[in-house]
Order: sequence, then structure tokens, then C-alpha cells
Amino acid sequence: MSAVVVLLFFLPPTILAMFLIWNSSKKQRKPLKIPPGNIGWPFIGETIAYLKPHLATSMGEFMEQHISRFGKIYSSNLFGEPTIVSADPELNRFILHNEGRLFECSYPRNVRQILGEWSMLVVVGNMHREMRTISLNFMSHARLRKQMLREVERHILLVLNSWEDDSTISTQEEAKKFTFNLMAKYILNLDPGKAETEQLKREYVTFMKGMISAPLNLPGTAYKKALQSRSCILKFIGQKMEERRSSTYDECKKIEEDDLLGWVSKQTNLSTEQILDLILSMLFAGHETSSVAIAFSVYFLECCPKAVHQLREEHLEIARRKKQLGEFGLSWEDYKQMEFTQCVINETLRLANVVRFVHRRALRDVQFKGYDIPRGWKVIPDFAAVHLDPSLYHHPQEFNPWRWKTGSSNATTTGTSNFMPFGGGPRLCAGLELAKLEMAVFLHHLVLNYRWESDEPDHAIAFPFPHFTKGLPIKVHTIT
Ligand code: HEM
Repeated sequence: MSAVVVLLFFLPPTILAMFLIWNSSKKQRKPLKIPPGNIGWPFIGETIAYLKPHLATSMGEFMEQHISRFGKIYSSNLFGEPTIVSADPELNRFILHNEGRLFECSYPRNVRQILGEWSMLVVVGNMHREMRTISLNFMSHARLRKQMLREVERHILLVLNSWEDDSTISTQEEAKKFTFNLMAKYILNLDPGKAETEQLKREYVTFMKGMISAPLNLPGTAYKKALQSRSCILKFIGQKMEERRSSTYDECKKIEEDDLLGWVSKQTNLSTEQILDLILSMLFAGHETSSVAIAFSVYFLECCPKAVHQLREEHLEIARRKKQLGEFGLSWEDYKQMEFTQCVINETLRLANVVRFVHRRALRDVQFKGYDIPRGWKVIPDFAAVHLDPSLYHHPQEFNPWRWKTGSSNATTTGTSNFMPFGGGPRLCAGLELAKLEMAVFLHHLVLNYRWESDEPDHAIAFPFPHFTKGLPIKVHTIT
């Protein structure tokens, strides 16, 4: 019989109560088993070393050293807070799938201030659910098939058709041009090349620089300029809303149904402030990420002629069939035929790690694999470290699209396996299907119409965002 049961019988109630309190406080005082790690310098901790620029296709020296010294789950002090970093795929999934219950999205102050308190990437709870429903409906499967595919292809052709034979282009810039124009059209019905679109683009560039700068709100700093650009962009979107409200034309009513601004104003009870932040976060989420992914696909393919050959064969087959049927423009059925292309996309996302990690906070004390994660601690699920883990991916540094072929060990669904380029759980990327569509259609027209080679050696750096230091210059040759 245990000691507690004996006490239940023999001790008077007050003494029993005291015993139980003592017993439970003794339990609370049990030392926590925090994962091993290093606290680093006061306040800044190990943040500088964690964010130190390194090759985007590697997990970086800091991560490698910490994993080999402490294991895949370790503690640190990052972004001014005690932090648990996870390169463990099971813990990463556990964190993402327990959003709102055990963990919550928690981005640093500078990101929150620039993106806005109502940004979809920042809000939690009911507001997040409401905004998520809006964006998922807006980018629904039906809309992707019926409207977005056509628009995606039109914007890609606009960019690719401007490339002259034997000219040198900056892949990164061209990809950004495409995704920005697409998002501007999709969100605010702005046409490429128009003065207002170009003005928005300029403000957006300044805004982005602030996202990656130190949060010093002093005259002349990138952060201050970014906050000013944020105000200009919000003013611009606000004016568009006003124009729509005051307009009585049927034409405007039609646009309202088609772009996100119209959609969101009609379908929800969000305040103007909330709508503005939602629109801005969609512009950010949808533009920076896909453009980087497209540039990386061109980069990896350039070093893998066998993959380019197989890709070209797949797209030539689609083009031949369309010619026979007398069809123009890609259809959803064509897109579904792009099997090897999907392998190229997965492999690009695995190696490029467009979003390397996300920010979370523990809402309560959590135990996992024998470790304690204390309530209030910052938690960082690091996807890049998982995607480049040699125990999970054979020769992880190698660009090998064939590893994604059906039947191979890595061929699992995005967000449910060790492969999480789009995050997972209730915050799984709302634009993942659009992103994959953009990449596939871009590759279709690229391999059918161009051969390319590097014009100058370039490499991609992981921080602050994955980017090519020289913009990835390539020489393009038209295929006749
Ligand atoms: C290759 C391209 C892309 C990658 C790698 C990517 C990655 C991600 C990741 C990892 C998250 C989760 C963030 C978190 O958990 O804190 C996310 C969220 C999100 N992404 Fe993407 N994304 C891409 C493209 C897009 C596109 C084209 C859009 C369209 C507008 C988009 C819209 C969003 C939105 C709205 C969220 C917030 C979802 C939520 O909080 O419920 N993304 N993305």
C-alpha cells in the first residue's frame, strides 16, 4: 500500500491537506530537465551566431555544431529570450500541430511592428481563424483552377517574353517581377508597368529592407524608413478601398468580386485597419517566398542537365498533346500531368529552405522526449536542419529530384512528413498550392522556350532571407 493511501486513513483532514500541499509543492520543485545548450552573451545570447550568414543550401556552422554537441533539441538564448531550438522532425510536427493549445505563433517585435498587429502571420486565436478562412477561400482549389492558373500563366509569359535571345538577366529580379505583378493584380487589381504599381513596388522594397534590419526607430535607419513605407502602402490600399466604396460603376463591382481587396471587404466584418494589415501580409507572404523558390529552381537545374532533359521531355509531351488538340494555354489537366516537375519543386524547396524556421512560444509547460519546455519560452522549429539532415535524406546536399518519385522513401505529402517547407498544422501556408502552381507554370515555359547557363558564378546566402548575392545572372538562349 502506498504511503499516500496509508495517510488517507490515519491522518486528520488538516494534516492530510498540509501533507498533500507539501507533496505537490515538492513535485513542483522537481528540477526541470531543460534540453542541453548554451546561453551565450547577456541579452543577445547566441542570436548573432544563429543568424550569421551562411550558404542557404547548408544548415550553417552554428546549427551543425550545436546539433553535434547537444543533440537535435537544444536550449539557447535567441532574439533576447530563453529558447528551445528543434531540429527534430517529431517535435517540429508536435509544435505546429498544437498551435493554440500548447504553443502559439510569436514573432519578434520588429516583424510585428512592420507587418502590423493585425497581420495574418502574427494574429492568433479567433482572429487568425477568421483571416485564415478568408485567405483559404480566396485561394480555393476552384479559384486556382478557374482563374488563377490563367493569370499565373499570363504574368509568367509577360516576363519571359521580354527576355531577348542571348541576353543576360537577373533571375532573382525577374522572378520577383513576376510574383509582385501577380500579387498586385490579385490583391488590388493593379496592372504591371502602370505608374501606381511601380510606386507600390518601390515602397515595398524599402518596407522589406526594414524587416531585416535592427529595430532602431531613429532618423535615417532602414527600420524607420520601413515604417514610413508601411504607412505609404497602407495609405495607398486605403485610397483604393475608398475609390471602391465611392464608385457606382458595375465594372468596379465586378473587380470587387475578383481581387482580394474586394473579396475581403464584401465577405467579412473586419475593420479597415484589419483589412489593411491582412492585405499587406498577403502581399508579403505571396511575393517574397515564391520568387526566391523560382530563382532556386533555375539555380539547381543549371547544375543538373539530366533533370533539365527529363523536365523538358515532360513539358514537350504536354505541348505536343495541346497542339494536336488545338488548345492554347495550360489547363488544370496539363498541370496534373507535371509529375517530374513536382519532384523538381519538392527538391528545390527542400534544399533552398525558403522559410528556414518559424517562431513559437510555449503556452504551458510541455514535456517531450524526456525534456521540459517551460511555459513562456520561445520555441523555434527549424525546418532547414531537418531538410538537410543526413539521417533523413541520403546525401542531403545533392539536388536529386528523383528522390521524390512515387514509391521512394521521401515521397510523402507536404506538411505531414519530415518535409515541411510550408510549415504545418493550423498555420500551414495558405498559399502553398498557388506557390507550387507558379513554380510549375514558370518551369513549363522556361524549359520549352529557353536554354540557359550561368553568366557569373553566384551563390545563395541564408540570412536574413535566402537570396542570391548577385541576383543569379544567367544568359538565356531562345529555343527555336
Ligand atoms: C515557395 C513559396 C512559399 C513558402 C516556402 C511558404 C512558406 C510558408 C510557411 C513556412 C508558413 C508558416 C508560417 C508560420 O507557421 O508561422 C507560411 C504561411 C503563410 N503563407 Fe506561405 N509560403 C510560400 C508561398 C506563399 C504564397 C504564394 C502565398 C499567397 C499569398 C502564401 C501565403 C501565406 C499565408 C497567408 C500564410 C499564413 C498562414 C496562417 O497563418 O494561417 N505563401 N508560408
